[in-house]
Amino acid sequence: MRLRGRSTAARRRMLCLWLLLLGFALVTLALSGFFSRDRSHGYQKAPAPGGALRRVLRPPDLELIVDPRDPALELGADAAPLKSLQEDQLLVVQSSQGSRTPPQKKGTYKVLLPGANKDADAPAPVAHGGTGGARRAHVEALGEDAELAAAHKYGFNEALSEGISVRRRLPETRHPGCFEEQYSESLPSASVVICFHDEAWSTLLRTVHSVLDTAPRRYLQEVLLVDDLSQHGHLKSVLGEYVAHLDGVRLIRNTKRLGVAGCRSVGAARAAGEVLVFMDSHCECQRGWLEPLLERVAQDRTRVVSPIIDVIDWQSFQYNATQWPVRGVFDWKLNFYWESNSHQPNTDDKPLPSPVLGGEVVAIDRHFFQSVGSYDPGMLLWGTEQIELSIRVWCCGGSMEVVPCSRVAHLNHYHLSYSFPDQELLQRNKIRLADTWMDAYKKIFYRRDTFAHFLRQSESPNISKRLRLKRSLGCRNFRWYLTTVYPQLYIPQDRPGLSGELYNVATGSCADHPRGRGLRGGAVTVAPCSGTGSQHCELNLEGEVRWGPMGALCLDARAERVLLSPCPSQRPTAGRLQWKFQKLSGQLVHQQSQLCVEAATDGGGLYLRPCTHHPRQQWHFEQLVAPRGA
Ligand SMILES: *[C@@H]1O[C@H](CO)[C@@H](O)[C@H](O)[C@H]1NC(C)=O
Ligand SMILES: *[C@@H]1O[C@H](CO)[C@@H](O)[C@H](O)[C@H]1NC(C)=O
Repeated sequence: MRLRGRSTAARRRMLCLWLLLLGFALVTLALSGFFSRDRSHGYQKAPAPGGALRRVLRPPDLELIVDPRDPALELGADAAPLKSLQEDQLLVVQSSQGSRTPPQKKGTYKVLLPGANKDADAPAPVAHGGTGGARRAHVEALGEDAELAAAHKYGFNEALSEGISVRRRLPETRHPGCFEEQYSESLPSASVVICFHDEAWSTLLRTVHSVLDTAPRRYLQEVLLVDDLSQHGHLKSVLGEYVAHLDGVRLIRNTKRLGVAGCRSVGAARAAGEVLVFMDSHCECQRGWLEPLLERVAQDRTRVVSPIIDVIDWQSFQYNATQWPVRGVFDWKLNFYWESNSHQPNTDDKPLPSPVLGGEVVAIDRHFFQSVGSYDPGMLLWGTEQIELSIRVWCCGGSMEVVPCSRVAHLNHYHLSYSFPDQELLQRNKIRLADTWMDAYKKIFYRRDTFAHFLRQSESPNISKRLRLKRSLGCRNFRWYLTTVYPQLYIPQDRPGLSGELYNVATGSCADHPRGRGLRGGAVTVAPCSGTGSQHCELNLEGEVRWGPMGALCLDARAERVLLSPCPSQRPTAGRLQWKFQKLSGQLVHQQSQLCVEAATDGGGLYLRPCTHHPRQQWHFEQLVAPRGA
């Protein structure tokens, strides 16, 4: 015991604290029974046995907090209004929104009763975990300005989130077959590692409570909350106090900002569970999410698994189920997507391999994680680290899959305001990935991201350690990955003179497809040449003009209009999608109609017209990145 040798006064204080807590625990047991009965209304399924009682109240375990400077270490008998800690459904800690000072001192809790006004100056009553209607009313009453202001701070509607219970339950969306699944009696234990940086109070606590309420205690070794140098006041001593009263939750504070990869590695190094579950700090778990993941990892310790990631709407906090089958993919700009295959509805509930897994929630055997090289410590802030881990796992002896009987909802963010704080850091991560793992295929990336190309020319990443790791693990090459793991990814040919920006002589502009990310396609226009790689396209050996970061869109023609449509997977390609480029005249000829592509007078779209030598029909493929040097 660390407390031995302290003065008797301190011991007496501890004794008082114990007695207080004991009495309080009894009250709590009675109360929590009441709340759990209340909560189960409106759901067909009864709560899991002992659900509400799982969080046994006990005195703060002083050993659990790593940073010795954490104010929570000084927690005394007079510390906090403990009642509000247990009545967490009603607990609201003022956020540091606007000019209000963040709660830095003890005793800033406010108990919020259902329907009560949270702040005197708030324009409307706070809906308490209410129905969609109540939430909508709340959003309207807040007004668009307040809503957007909140969205700008956190990237989601934080004011609304504060009014929703931190222990709300999600509607059942699992496949019926999942209820018949039998899981092994001796599943491995799990450590859930949740890194956060300036996360909102409500979303962070909802994540923690949702894990505690859904993961069976016998499999849940611990929840490790790793604070990646947050600045917001509510994440300091207030959080330390709160967490000290949650059974099985430990708080680790980084003294340096590490980013997702580094922060998760810190958590992993301190984890005791056999399986690591990395989870974002704004998630809500569906009942029964953990067992299916543990089962798949227990069967094969080199298997890395993810639940189906459902979506919580940033604006309404509505829960949207993701359509199965779904898998993780990336494009040639090295951006990650979850891809739901709506053409091939799969009613099965069996896990499916996935070329990549998103970072929202991922479960991996702890020893395998360490032996395969953890996260790349050179990955900054966030972005791309999940693709790097995925390619490494596949190439170095492991596999990845999505387990459909496991579902966790993830809060999506309002991306216009919540964009990457420093684009250059993201580019650096992509460069690390490309240079370490993609062999000669990295050129395909650099052609589509010219900013990364120029950044790479001015500085090289130091990847010597990672290359050594790759050699020592005997990892396979990227060609193997593309042909075996991710054969659906189109491999561009990028032939010299037949790829690049499609430049029109008469208008001095380039063929463009605004919102090139969409897979549905649409009209092609002419727009100022971007020089960023966003207008990159290529005429391949099959005669297709391929577009977009996945190369999944093909230049097509309907009547006179030139547009993009999804490329068919079968070969040979349809005649309607075949084009020929006359290098001498600069004409781009539609093979089926023998008409030429012409840029419209008004700077609008592209049309098929009888071939002439007018400059509107003269095109060049302008290469931004030399075909050989990357
Ligand atoms: C969730 O579903 C609603 C209605 O179906 C839709 O309006 C909303 O955009 C969806 N949100 C997300 C994030 O997909
Ligand atoms: C790269 O990092 C290693 C250590 O990881 C170091 O020994 C080496 O000198 C570094 N190389 C350069 C060029 O900085």
